[in-house]
Amino acid sequence: MKRVFVVLSVIAMLVGAGSAMASATVKLKELHLDNSNEARQRGAETVIYTCMLCHSLKYVKFSDLTNLGLSKEQILDMLDDQKFEDRMMSVTPVEVRQESYGKVPPDLSLMAIARKKGPQYVYTLVTSYYYREDGETDNHLFPGIKMPDALGYSDTDEGSSDRSDVEAQARDLVSFLVWTADPNAEARRTIGFYVIIYLIILTALLYLVKKRVWRKIEKSKLGH
Ligand code: HEC
Repeated sequence: MKRVFVVLSVIAMLVGAGSAMASATVKLKELHLDNSNEARQRGAETVIYTCMLCHSLKYVKFSDLTNLGLSKEQILDMLDDQKFEDRMMSVTPVEVRQESYGKVPPDLSLMAIARKKGPQYVYTLVTSYYYREDGETDNHLFPGIKMPDALGYSDTDEGSSDRSDVEAQARDLVSFLVWTADPNAEARRTIGFYVIIYLIILTALLYLVKKRVWRKIEKSKLGH
């Protein structure tokens, strides 16, 4: 019986230590997203030029970017061999990426909803790189991550304009990834608005019809 107690208290201690570690983990950074088309366009550019070296966004086509206000020419200017109608697939073949990093970097199309607090998570991830004592880069949020510091955050000094440039870049790319995770959000809101207006008008009309019908019924009753 005593032994069971000892085992139980050890387990309790371990659980306690575990939760203490969890609370000591990095907090996600605060993020105020700019959801304008301009911010998303800048984000698209960063994702295409930088992130797509390793990541794909298979649920989005380059042609979809016209919905952000980019022209076909502007989009084609950002591409190498890919075509306007293509899905946004990484320029590096899957085998090469698997070989280089030991795993295929995850698809980014739905990343903003795939992780808990996705937008804040991605923003914090790309702005949490630092140099370890041994000169290698690592990440506070994801220690030992196999992804290099793609935006060069660890090369910027705290408070410098270079750092705020990288932070702005990170913010814009998250705005873009929020859009790719739900590109129809805006259309849905617009449709929702018209549906509500329609329902209000319909309700008013039905109310008038009801009043008219009842007036007739009352009248015919009185006539009796
Ligand atoms: C040089 C290749 C490379 C580039 C460039 C790159 N990534 Fe990654 N990325 C990876 C690899 C590899 C992983 C898998 C990391 C792991 O699981 O250790 C990854 C994982 C991720 C993850 C998922 C982390 C998680 O929680 O599992 C996110 C989000 C991400 N990358 C975002 C980005 C963004 C945004 C950019 C552009 C600024 C970018 N990556 C550029 C290679 C890259």
